[in-house]
Amino acid sequence: MEQDFARILIPRDRIQARVAEMAEAITKSYGDEAREIVIVAILSGSVIFLADLIRHLPFKMKLGLMTVSRYRGAATSGGETLLKSAVDLPLENRHVLLIDDILDSGGTLRAVCEDLRKQRPADLKLAVLLRKPSKAPKDIIPDFVGFDIEDVFVVGYGLDFNSQYRNWPDIGVLRPELYA
Ligand code: IMP
Ligand code: MG
Repeated sequence: MEQDFARILIPRDRIQARVAEMAEAITKSYGDEAREIVIVAILSGSVIFLADLIRHLPFKMKLGLMTVSRYRGAATSGGETLLKSAVDLPLENRHVLLIDDILDSGGTLRAVCEDLRKQRPADLKLAVLLRKPSKAPKDIIPDFVGFDIEDVFVVGYGLDFNSQYRNWPDIGVLRPELYA
């Protein structure tokens, strides 16, 4: 697997240190409200981040997982359908923390946030490991961001290309010929 990488963007020890910092910020932000927290994570990209992050959070929580599939109609005018699975937990009056791997164009997170808000949580916060500031829309401002990165396609630490490389502990860029 290592030979498939052109360069490492964020090495594993920097990721681990930053995830611990994020957990500290998240813990502080909830204070005494930490009793009613529901973590909602978007599969599959967030799984590694989720597993590392929540083990640093010292309060009780419920964990809901959701899947989002995107279907782009090739013949339609850029139309995109998002198929979202429901979270199998009550969210009304709960403090909901939504977790995702990366904020790119923001289409996924905008749709998921809209859905979750309909269930009237006490509040909804957003934590993403990565953000591409050059593409992220101005109306989606995560409460917690791990790293702002340049606009390159990255893999590793949960992020995939063709469903592969999620288990690579660093975040990096593949050799260009592999993306072809
Ligand atoms: P968005 O809706 O454009 O923000 O895209 C969100 C989803 O696209 C993320 O949750 C990722 O699964 C995927 N994605 C976006 N950028 C990358 C990348 O650089 N590497 C791997 N997956 C990505
Ligand atoms: Mg993906």
